[in-house]
Amino acid sequence: MLPEIENVKAEIINYTISNKKELEEFRIKYIGQKGLIKELFGLMKTVAPQQRKELGLQLNALKEMAEAKFKEYQERFENQTNEPILPPYDLTLPVIPDSLGGLHPISITLNRIIRIFRNIGFDISEGPEIEDDWHNFTALNFPHNHPAREMQDTFFIEKNPDILLRTHTSSVQVRVLESKHPPIRTLSPGRVYRNEAISARAHCIFHQIEGLFVDKNVSFADLKQTLLYFAQELFGKHVKIRMRPSFFPFTEPSAEVDVFLGTETEADRKLTKGTGWLEIGGCGMVDPYVFKACGIDAETYTGFAFGMGIERIAMILYQIKDLRLFTENDIRFLKQFIRIS
Ligand code: PHE
Repeated sequence: MLPEIENVKAEIINYTISNKKELEEFRIKYIGQKGLIKELFGLMKTVAPQQRKELGLQLNALKEMAEAKFKEYQERFENQTNEPILPPYDLTLPVIPDSLGGLHPISITLNRIIRIFRNIGFDISEGPEIEDDWHNFTALNFPHNHPAREMQDTFFIEKNPDILLRTHTSSVQVRVLESKHPPIRTLSPGRVYRNEAISARAHCIFHQIEGLFVDKNVSFADLKQTLLYFAQELFGKHVKIRMRPSFFPFTEPSAEVDVFLGTETEADRKLTKGTGWLEIGGCGMVDPYVFKACGIDAETYTGFAFGMGIERIAMILYQIKDLRLFTENDIRFLKQFIRIS
């Protein structure tokens, strides 16, 4: 087929006609007395006599195609008035509900906690989940072969030098202290790993959020007031906190923090085993050993740190009784959080 014919054929096929005016334009351009097809018939004179028949057939086919298209649209527009063309579906029907995703309850809880601390000047720091021994243990005053290491059953990836899945977010404290100068006021949220059997209350993967505050003259009173402010913002102005003496190698003194949720509701009694108190995390004043390990002047600066389990807090907030629900990806569970943020 001659390229001229081929081009016109493609044009006709692709020509869009959406109203009577455009249909008339189409007719004039291709089929009319001065149209392109007529012009192409002029080629008959230019080709050798033995090719004429073939060319004639092609041109006639082209003409028929254009006429068929013209007719088709002509019929289509015949009964057309100036009424707007309605879509072929009923716009008044209710919409088909769209299933939008939502935030995971762990993310929702994390965001709520971050918002509360942001209001008092905390920023966010992140660290890797695959850590070295220095950041997870040694700089935090867990000496080699010290029994404190065994409190956190660790997943090692490599031995000598030790590379491991971080057992807590306190490793980020070290990274921050190594790279920044006080004043420091930062939060480190993230995933942590411990070699624990999975049950309703424990999982080998969970989330923590760490807080670190370092400046001149930071005291235990600041720590206590910060945690009280946090607990009341999150759980309500009625809650109280208490601190029980505890031990962490990287804080001195150290404490465990409990929140008093009360014993009024059945859920609170169950969650707190009838006492009204529930542990939410650990805390303490940064041990001078840690400052020294990270190159911060322990004479000039003091600070506090705290660490909390996100799952634990989400369980309190949403009265979730089994930790495994967070990782099972059951849509019936996750859907309940879509409207909470
Ligand atoms: N890292 C500790 C844990 O995982 C919690 C903690 C953080 C305690 C900061 C004191 C200060 O148990």
